[in-house]
Amino acid sequence: MSHAEDHSGDRRDFLYYATAGVGAVTVGAAVWPLVNQMNPSADVQAASQMRVDVGGISEGTQLTVLFLGKPVFIRRRTADEIEAARGVDLADLVDQDARNPNIGPIDASDENRSMPDYSGANTGEWLVQIGVCTHLGCVPIGDGAGDFGGWFCPCHGSHYDSSGRIRRGPAPENLPIPVASFVDDSTILLG
Ligand code: FES
Repeated sequence: MSHAEDHSGDRRDFLYYATAGVGAVTVGAAVWPLVNQMNPSADVQAASQMRVDVGGISEGTQLTVLFLGKPVFIRRRTADEIEAARGVDLADLVDQDARNPNIGPIDASDENRSMPDYSGANTGEWLVQIGVCTHLGCVPIGDGAGDFGGWFCPCHGSHYDSSGRIRRGPAPENLPIPVASFVDDSTILLG
């Protein structure tokens, strides 16, 4: 079993409500003042970052990792997924913001949501996003789920397209993109 398959199997489709996530946030908030007082800046920085080997992710599959208490979907998209995402008329989007902190407030074109590779080229192959529905925090199902070929949140019926943009249902925003970048040909640094 490849590294990607190992991570993209059961966990890919798991579903949970946000109560656990809220608990984690609460604990984090309580711990933070103590950590800040101790001022262990290097340790804290290391804990808030994660390196992910994506070399084993094949086209059309997704690796899910847990980062800072939340699932992060790392998808290597197919040409069809990229073409579909890039062919969308931006006027049809519910949320016009890319939700990408790596480049700031900017329109929600697929080019602004997908991640450039290590060379800086953005072919659309890589899409990295936080796998938490922007409605009430369930974890959407992936692999082309829903009516727009991306992710589907069955909790209340939110459909996301192959760029992770909300297209139908109660979720108000696109799936958020974490701070992330390639640090070599096959490693993504989260945080
Ligand atoms: S939590 Fe996803 S649709 Fe309500």
